[in-house]
Amino acid sequence: MALLEIHELHAGYGAIRALRGISFAVGQGQVVSLIGANGAGKSTTLNTISGLIKPTAGRVIFADHDITGWRADRVTGVGLAQVPEGRQVIATMTVLENLLLGAHRRDRTEIDGAIGAIWERFPRLSERRHQKAGSLSGGEQQMLAVGRALMMRPRLLMLDEPSMGLAPLLVNQVFRIIADIKAQGIPILLVEQNARKALQVADYAYVLERGQIAHHGPAAQLRQDQAVIAAYLG
Ligand SMILES: Nc1ncnc2c1ncn2[C@@H]1O[C@H](COP(=O)(O)OP(=O)(O)O)[C@@H](O)[C@H]1O
Ligand SMILES: [Mg+2]
Repeated sequence: MALLEIHELHAGYGAIRALRGISFAVGQGQVVSLIGANGAGKSTTLNTISGLIKPTAGRVIFADHDITGWRADRVTGVGLAQVPEGRQVIATMTVLENLLLGAHRRDRTEIDGAIGAIWERFPRLSERRHQKAGSLSGGEQQMLAVGRALMMRPRLLMLDEPSMGLAPLLVNQVFRIIADIKAQGIPILLVEQNARKALQVADYAYVLERGQIAHHGPAAQLRQDQAVIAAYLG
């Protein structure tokens, strides 16, 4: 059984049916990417898994729990951490305070250990630990958002467009961080419009079109797929 299994999931906004029966899975140690154009339903998928949106049909199974329709805090509690689109760090709080938001329900020693690991992974954040998050660059804010999610010691990390709006050098840096987290054995569900980069780091990928899975396969195979190349890789 896969770590995360999505079965025939439907969700929407009133009359808008954003997800129309999607099914996919993420296995242990895998990076699985969900790619697709703007408006395809990528964020709706992550938000439905993480409990921010209630599905209208279908099931979400995570680590053998049926988490369908669970509230977001309960989903986080079983080890599923989401880095939302647009990062959403708290601008008026310091870097350290933002990280501590991810540390709820843990004891002091554990928190110190987790913070130390974040400083090691992101030296730039360490140097800026007492700076307000709002004063960081876009790339640094993305690192902070990822760091905050890692503070939860997640069993699965979901990233929503981590490279969005970043300069090319920083995009490369974000994808190096993703590869690094994967190398540590943390599985990742990666939502990206940058299909080229996503297919380089992913093991397996699903292409979402208007709320349905249009293609899927090993990332190496999708990189060669003419339909995918024409639509998403130029
Ligand atoms: N809060 C919302 N209210 C109404 N419609 C929404 C809302 N969020 C997204 N949608 C619609 O749902 C569909 C999927 O959106 P979304 O999941 O954000 O796509 P993506 O993340 O792939 O760009 C789109 O048609 C979008 O316009
Ligand atoms: Mg989105």
